[in-house]
Amino acid sequence: MTTPYPFSASGSRLAGRSGILELMDDLGKALTTDPGMRMLGGGNPAHIPAVDAVWRRRMQELMEEGDLLERTLGNYDPPQGNPGFLKSLAGFLQRHCGWDLTPAHLAITAGGQSAFFHLFNLLAGPMPDGRTRRILLPLVPEYIGYANQGLHPDLFTACQPGIEALPGNEFKYRVHFPAVEAALARGDIGAICVSRPTNPTGNVLTNEEMKRLSGLALAAGIPLIIDNAYGLPFPGAVFTDAEPLFGGHIILTLSLSKLGLPGTRTGIVVARPEIASAIAAMTSVTGLANTNIGQQLVKPLLDSDEVLHLSRQVIRPFYESRARDAGQWMQEAFGADAGWSLHRCEGAFFRWLRLTGLPISTRELYQRLKKRQVLVVPGEDFFFGLSGPWPHQAECLRLNCSGAPETVREALRIIADEVRMVRNGG
Ligand SMILES: Cc1ncc(COP(=O)(O)O)c(C=O)c1O
Repeated sequence: MTTPYPFSASGSRLAGRSGILELMDDLGKALTTDPGMRMLGGGNPAHIPAVDAVWRRRMQELMEEGDLLERTLGNYDPPQGNPGFLKSLAGFLQRHCGWDLTPAHLAITAGGQSAFFHLFNLLAGPMPDGRTRRILLPLVPEYIGYANQGLHPDLFTACQPGIEALPGNEFKYRVHFPAVEAALARGDIGAICVSRPTNPTGNVLTNEEMKRLSGLALAAGIPLIIDNAYGLPFPGAVFTDAEPLFGGHIILTLSLSKLGLPGTRTGIVVARPEIASAIAAMTSVTGLANTNIGQQLVKPLLDSDEVLHLSRQVIRPFYESRARDAGQWMQEAFGADAGWSLHRCEGAFFRWLRLTGLPISTRELYQRLKKRQVLVVPGEDFFFGLSGPWPHQAECLRLNCSGAPETVREALRIIADEVRMVRNGG
C-alpha cells in the first residue's frame, strides 16, 4: 500500500501486513458482519454460559457497591496496575502456587499482547554495547501474535522441533535440545520464550522440558519467558499434569482474556521487581495507565478463590471436552483417508491439523475454505524465526473448535471434503 508520508522502518514493520492483522481482521469481520461463516479461526474464548453469568453478576455488583463504578471509570490507575488488584493477585498466587512474591513482582498491561511487545523490545534488539540480541523460540510453531512485535528486524530466532508420531493419527512436537543449545552458544540471545499451553498446537511442554529450558536460561544469564495465557492457575485450560513455574529468572505472563474477558484487555507480568517496574514504566510511556474494569471484575474472585473453581470446574472441562469431540469428528470426517494427523491436544482451545503431502499450501487451502464459509488459520505464519524454509510449515492448519458443536462438526466435514478434492486435483 502507498502511504501519504514516509513511514519509519519500525513504523512500517508494525503497520504493514502481518499474520496477526489478517487473523484479527477475519475474526472481527466474521463476528460482526457474516453470521453464516463457520468460525474456526481466531482465538476468541467461547461464550460459556456459566462464565458469562459470573461477569454479568460482577458488573451488577460493581454498580451497586458505593462509588466503585465512578472510581473505576473516572480515575487513572498507577501504571503498574490497580493496587488492590495487585495485592489480591499476589495473595492468590502465594496461596495456590506457593510462590514467594509480593505486588512488586506484578505489572498489569493492556492484554498479554502488550506484555510481549514490552518484554521483547526490553530484552532484545540493539543493546547499549552495540550488539544485537534476539528472542529464542525453542520450538516453532509458536504464537503468531509475537511475530511482528519487534521494533527492529530479525527479533526472533527459532528451532525446529522433533515430531513424535503417536497412535490414533496423533503426533506431538518435542523440543530439540541440541538445536536450542547451539542457538544459545552463539551468545546473542536476550531471552527464551515459550507459550505453554502453546497456541497454535495445544502442546504443553513437559515438566522435564521446562526444567531443562529453565536450566539453560539460568546458565546463559537470561530470562525464560513463559506465556501462560491458557495455563494454570487460571484460566486452567491444561489437560496434563503440567506444573506452573515461577521464580528468579522466570518471567511469567497471565491474562484475563481466556477467563472470558478479552474485551477488558488485561494482561499480567509476574517477574522479579526490576522487570515488573520496567514494564510499568513502559506502560506509562505508551499508555499512561491500563484499563481497570477487568481488574475490578476479577479482584473479589481472587480473594474468594472463585476464579479457581471457575477454571477447574467450568473452563477446563468445557475446552477439554470440545477438543476431544473435535478429534472424534475429525476421525469421522476423514474416515480412512491417508495423510492427516492431529497434534495431541494437551491444553488451550485449538486443534492443529497436519495434512502431509498436500499439493497446495495451507494458505491456498484457507482461501478455498473461506469460499465455502469455513474460516481457519493457515499454519505458515506460526513458523517465524527459522533460518530457512521447512516444508512442514505449509501443511498445517489451526482450528478453534470451541464454537457451537454442530457448526464445528459441519466445518470439519467441509474441510475433509475440500482436502479430498485438492488431493484428487479438483
Ligand atoms: C499464547 C497467547 N499469548 C498471548 C495472547 C494475547 O492475549 P491477550 O492480549 O488477549 O491477553 C494470546 C491470544 O490469543 C495467546 O494465544
